[in-house]
Amino acid sequence: MHSESTSFSAESYFATQGPPPNLEHEVSAVRTFVAQQIQQNRNVVLVTSGGTTVPLELNVVRFLDNFSAGTRGATSAEYFLKAGYAVIFMHRQFSLQPFSRHYSHSTNPFLDFLEIDQVDSSDPQISVTADKRAHLLEVLTAYKSVHASGTLLTLTFITVNDYLWLLRAVSQELSVMRRRAMYYLAAAVSDFFLPRQKMSEHKIQSGKGSLHIEMDQVPKILKSMVDEWTHDGFIVSFKLETDPLLLIPKAHAALERYGHQVVIGNDLHRRKFEVVFVSRNPQLNGDASTGSAPSTFVDHWLRIDLIRDPSKEIEEDIISELVRRHEEWVKQK
Ligand code: PMT
Repeated sequence: MHSESTSFSAESYFATQGPPPNLEHEVSAVRTFVAQQIQQNRNVVLVTSGGTTVPLELNVVRFLDNFSAGTRGATSAEYFLKAGYAVIFMHRQFSLQPFSRHYSHSTNPFLDFLEIDQVDSSDPQISVTADKRAHLLEVLTAYKSVHASGTLLTLTFITVNDYLWLLRAVSQELSVMRRRAMYYLAAAVSDFFLPRQKMSEHKIQSGKGSLHIEMDQVPKILKSMVDEWTHDGFIVSFKLETDPLLLIPKAHAALERYGHQVVIGNDLHRRKFEVVFVSRNPQLNGDASTGSAPSTFVDHWLRIDLIRDPSKEIEEDIISELVRRHEEWVKQK
């Protein structure tokens, strides 16, 4: 499979790649949700989470995937809810979700901490293992309370195409909240894709030797988000690198290029205990009292000590710092 690669702008992407079938239904749910939160005077955050896929065939058998279990997004969503935000949780199908993430089938299967009480064998009862009870009660209480208050809306994507259409539509709906909306883009989004027009309809056949596929670049949608889809919303993007030397320069470049509020840099192997917040230096907007020229960006490292406190989650500190910054952002206008 070999063909000319095309450079897609966001505009040409949406003009040529069709929307997912359930988009209108999802948008209508978002519209209702946002209206309810405005009535309740709550800030709303859009959290994107998990990796996007790139199908290689229209009748898809094979696809490329992006790394992400959805831990960052699901954990962050919980802390946003705790901080009083309403959350639109836009996640990859079957990736981790707030609350249920504590009982992931692979790391903490819930069947392992349920017991069958055989007091009366004709009517067996189920109970929770004593040492798991307190934690489950805490998670369950938070989960029930969020459901009762209607502050969590969950949306699902699989492919990068689903993600882009949904992100645009949700951002546009949320833009009515202006500064009170936050966009927390933790999803791991494919950088390359195969346009529909170049996809094989059926399963690509083996037997012809090696496979050559030339992919097109996914348009950088952060630019459109900042300039067109969100009006003054507080936008936080993530930058994932595996080479620690690239993290800061790439985070600076992202902020320079897109002009949003914060880039959170994380190294693949250190992301559970260390992140860096990169933002523009506020001193550049006036105060030139220091003799030397201030630098364009401020890098604020945030670290936790998992040896001293293994149950601590870095997302707790990330969200508390973002909530503080968002409050300032809202006050600025
Ligand atoms: O889920 P976990 O296993 O806990 O892992 C969390 C994480 C490491 C995936 C997460 O913390 C993270 O870093 N997510 C962003 C990873 C990523 O895709 O980085 P990037 O350099 O490809 O993209 C940077 C930013 O640009 C992202 O916020 C993305 O939403 C945005 N982007 C990406 C591609 C594209 N075409 N347009 C974009 O705007």
